[in-house]
Amino acid sequence: MNIVLEYFSIWRALSFFLLASTVVGWGKEGHYTTCSIAQGYLTEDALAAVKALLPGSAEGELANVCSWADEVRWHYHWSSSLHWVDTPDFFCNYNYCRDCHDTSGVNDRCVTGAINNYTMQLMTYVNSDSETNCKYEIPLTDILSSVTHLGFVTDNLTEALMFLSHFVGDIHQPLHVGFLGDEGGNTIIVHWYTRKANLHHIWDTEIIQSALKTFYNADLPTMIQSIQKNIIDDWAFEEWENCNKTVCPNPYASESISLACKFAYRNATPGTTLGDDYFLSRLPVVEMRLAQGGVRLAAILNRLFTSKASIASI
Ligand SMILES: *[C@@H]1O[C@H](CO)[C@@H](O)[C@H](O)[C@H]1NC(C)=O
Ligand SMILES: *[C@@H]1O[C@H](CO)[C@@H](O)[C@H](O)[C@H]1NC(C)=O
Ligand SMILES: *[C@@H]1O[C@H](CO)[C@@H](O)[C@H](O)[C@H]1NC(C)=O
Ligand SMILES: [Zn+2]
Repeated sequence: MNIVLEYFSIWRALSFFLLASTVVGWGKEGHYTTCSIAQGYLTEDALAAVKALLPGSAEGELANVCSWADEVRWHYHWSSSLHWVDTPDFFCNYNYCRDCHDTSGVNDRCVTGAINNYTMQLMTYVNSDSETNCKYEIPLTDILSSVTHLGFVTDNLTEALMFLSHFVGDIHQPLHVGFLGDEGGNTIIVHWYTRKANLHHIWDTEIIQSALKTFYNADLPTMIQSIQKNIIDDWAFEEWENCNKTVCPNPYASESISLACKFAYRNATPGTTLGDDYFLSRLPVVEMRLAQGGVRLAAILNRLFTSKASIASI
């Protein structure tokens, strides 16, 4: 192969990697895990609605499009502040009114606001069948198009589902609810074993990748199965679903900043080297957050899409 071409493609792969590594959010593996756990807990109605809304490229698997929101961050620049929420420096608590805004101060433009937004959009899909209790009375193509039969401009519900599924994952990554001054750990440079990395990236990606290599034979499905087993055997997951509305993102953000203070920031000041001690004590937190994201995403989708008729017959 032509050396210049080869050099060019290596450079492209590298610059893609560098770009990708500044992306904020669980890495691809984390989002895949959360959505694949969620799909396993969907009711029949919710699964049917999700499959109807998924784009063809998903091949019926929500997990395949759970990183879509990261892929469109540059193209949909307006969406980039919707992946996180920051608290004032060293505040280990979260408050929607104080914290949920973008860097120019526009209210509601943060991950909790976005979860509310996309849940509300998806409620329009439910209402169109549960009011008549007659599924798909309105042809699906009309629901999905940007203009309904009533002439209202509606949102793209396929995108709403992909955003919601991604942001419910993000809000469970403790450093997505981190301090403003260090951008949720992005400006804290440490060593992950022998390599330089920022703390945020360690929580998005490195802990999961080290776990895959160390404990799961570098096989993501094996890790997902192990987390699914923990959900059933070890965790009181019914409590995770507590929510008397359609969606309750605020407590998830409070949990995240609390875990960020207790686990992510602790012993991770700039310049420190994080190795086995840090990895082994933080991995259970990461696995629990992936599980909680999945179980809670399923609960939201089930509340949205399970028709009253089939709830009555359970
Ligand atoms: C709500 O969703 C719409 C459609 O994607 C988007 O234009 C808007 O910025 C979103 N707002 C928030 C706060 O998520
Ligand atoms: C909805 O969004 C998806 C993903 O961006 C896109 O492929 C599709 O064309 C959109 N549908 C409409 C009706 O705009
Ligand atoms: C919903 O739950 C919250 C917190 O658990 C509680 O403060 C509120 O009163 C509840 N609302 C209703 C309508 O039950
Ligand atoms: Zn994200």
